[in-house]
Amino acid sequence: MSEIETRLENGVLTVTLNRPDKKNAITQAMYAALAEAAERARTDDAVRVLLFRAEGDSFSAGNDIGDFIALGSQGQGPTDMPVFRFLKALADLDRPVVAAVKGRAVGIGLTLLLHCDLVVVAEDALLSVPFVNLALAPEAASSLLLPLTLGHQRAFELFALGQPLDGRTAHAWGLANRCVPADQVEAAAADLAAQVAARAPNSIRKTKALMRDAEALWAIMQREGEAFGGQMKSPEAMEAFMAFTQKRAPDFSKAG
Ligand code: COA
Repeated sequence: MSEIETRLENGVLTVTLNRPDKKNAITQAMYAALAEAAERARTDDAVRVLLFRAEGDSFSAGNDIGDFIALGSQGQGPTDMPVFRFLKALADLDRPVVAAVKGRAVGIGLTLLLHCDLVVVAEDALLSVPFVNLALAPEAASSLLLPLTLGHQRAFELFALGQPLDGRTAHAWGLANRCVPADQVEAAAADLAAQVAARAPNSIRKTKALMRDAEALWAIMQREGEAFGGQMKSPEAMEAFMAFTQKRAPDFSKAG
């Protein structure tokens, strides 16, 4: 079984994160497969809707931290990585995107939702963007889209303190269209995807394209990439990554 599975049925391209033992933490190889799926969604006329879902108890624990350690020490810039191919494909996507979110949605697990058009969250889901906890910086145009959705103060607190938001609050704050018990998330998302897939496809595409500025999103993703890439190679980030692998709290007292 692949860690990213895709299935096209009745116009809905379902993309499943399938690495449940690691809470669906996303590796560069998985980003490459996600990019392929998002590019297919834009170019294959048989695809009317893209649906993201996950196996196991968590939507995604975000970027794989082992990858961060490897990439940080290699000195590869983030814009060379498959994650950037995926982000570009998300910015360019004019097909509607639906997400079914249960359990943890961390980092890109949350910022991906800012590029989805219909989001279903479980009431007890826990969503967070702890980039600062890892001494990193926001990505996926979230520095623009999160404050746009929540307001500056709420977004800043989520970024700076990294505390999770539960599904009910995420829904109340406008991050999700529906908030349902966890065992109803998949059915609610599939129902929304089927409804959108039945609508006039060109009308839907034009509606979505008019609502978003793909070029501006890509520009901010690249700007964020500079900040993120600089931080990724920093001693404070290495301390945060090592602390995660050693299951201890990071010590930033000597960072300067
Ligand atoms: N990268 C790599 N491995 C990860 C991971 C990540 N982002 N998130 C979880 N894992 C691994 C854990 O190391 C653990 O592996 P092990 O069983 O070999 O020890 C396994 O997935 C299960 O995770 P665990 O932490 O035991 O589960 P939990 O239910 O106690 O906590 C989370 C779940 C998501 C809260 C916690 O794993 C976490 O905080 N992960 C990091 C999230 C993060 O900072 N992501 C980056 C955002 S930019």
